[in-house]
Amino acid sequence: MNMNTNFDKVDIKQFQHDLITWFVREQRDLPWRKNGGDPYKVWVSEIMLQQTRVDTVIPYYERFLEKFPTIESFAEADDESVLKIWEGLGYYSRVRNLHSAVKEVVQHYGGKVPETPEEISKLKGVGPYTAGAVLSIAYGVPEPAVDGNVMRVLSRILLMWDDIAKQSTRKLFEKAVRELMYYENPSYFNQALMELGALICTPTSPSCLLCPVRDHCQAFEAGVQEELPVKTRKKTTKHVEIVAAVLKNKDDQFLIRKRPEKGLLANLWEFPNVEDHGPYVQMRQGLAGYLKNELEIDTELETGTFEKVNHVFTHLTWTIDAFSGKLIGDFSGRPNYKLVCKEQLEEYAFPVSHQKIWQAYKKQYL
Ligand code: ADE
Repeated sequence: MNMNTNFDKVDIKQFQHDLITWFVREQRDLPWRKNGGDPYKVWVSEIMLQQTRVDTVIPYYERFLEKFPTIESFAEADDESVLKIWEGLGYYSRVRNLHSAVKEVVQHYGGKVPETPEEISKLKGVGPYTAGAVLSIAYGVPEPAVDGNVMRVLSRILLMWDDIAKQSTRKLFEKAVRELMYYENPSYFNQALMELGALICTPTSPSCLLCPVRDHCQAFEAGVQEELPVKTRKKTTKHVEIVAAVLKNKDDQFLIRKRPEKGLLANLWEFPNVEDHGPYVQMRQGLAGYLKNELEIDTELETGTFEKVNHVFTHLTWTIDAFSGKLIGDFSGRPNYKLVCKEQLEEYAFPVSHQKIWQAYKKQYL
């Protein structure tokens, strides 16, 4: 194999045996491992597990399948309830894409998730990782499912110094998996690599002494397991200061607005807010000025903030200072804004940062 690894040193049969014996014995009891290989359920779990930890995913996964037990039921769901069930999981484009893709499967494939790489990869949001995970786990198709965890594991076993931040590197690892999984059960093989990455071959302080494939690991042999994988640092994150208002009118209704349909947290709901710079500097005055200017509403904001929320996104951090206030007079309405009572408010999907604002508000004012 012409790649930058010591691939030939691996005894593939023995490696497979050691890895899979360990997986069968030690795998965690996870809800998506009890779904009988239903491709729809595997797909949901794999989308949730992208960028989200297993412990966080479990309750979401269970609630999701309670609400949408079949692919048809999910295809028929309205957009608002789809966002609501994902509320708090983050990376909301995952669920929007999943919803579009599932509708496509119901319309064009009679509700059966395609079982070829060509077809499944055409679906929205189904990249090489998801395609490989669903095909191998649900259908036993020998396709690699390479994510960051699998690259970490293999970079160590095969002593690969390629930068895993590069797209081209994933292809190298996919090639390696194809060779390593040959003739094995693809579902077990891929899940075993994931499981090893989660339980043993962790980013820092891997538990090499407990590792079932330590004898095959060239990084361990060379004592460099903690130096792998190589990953170049991403650009620095941007920081944004925001001021937000929970505004109540004389009828005890709250003003909320829907975020734009593209971009960060698309289509989620939030309390009116503005970045704390530009034409309306200075927190509270800036916020009141913004509301007056944008919405032609008068507000009476309290002097101090009742909550400060920090939120970390992948390339961005937010600090939100939240003010409580009154809406004075009648609000004439604007597209994407709504006045809702507190029970209604909780039916809309809010980003975690704004949920925190609401919880703090309820505690102090309601
Ligand atoms: N991470 C991604 N997919 C997974 C799976 N199927 N089981 C456990 N962890 C995972």
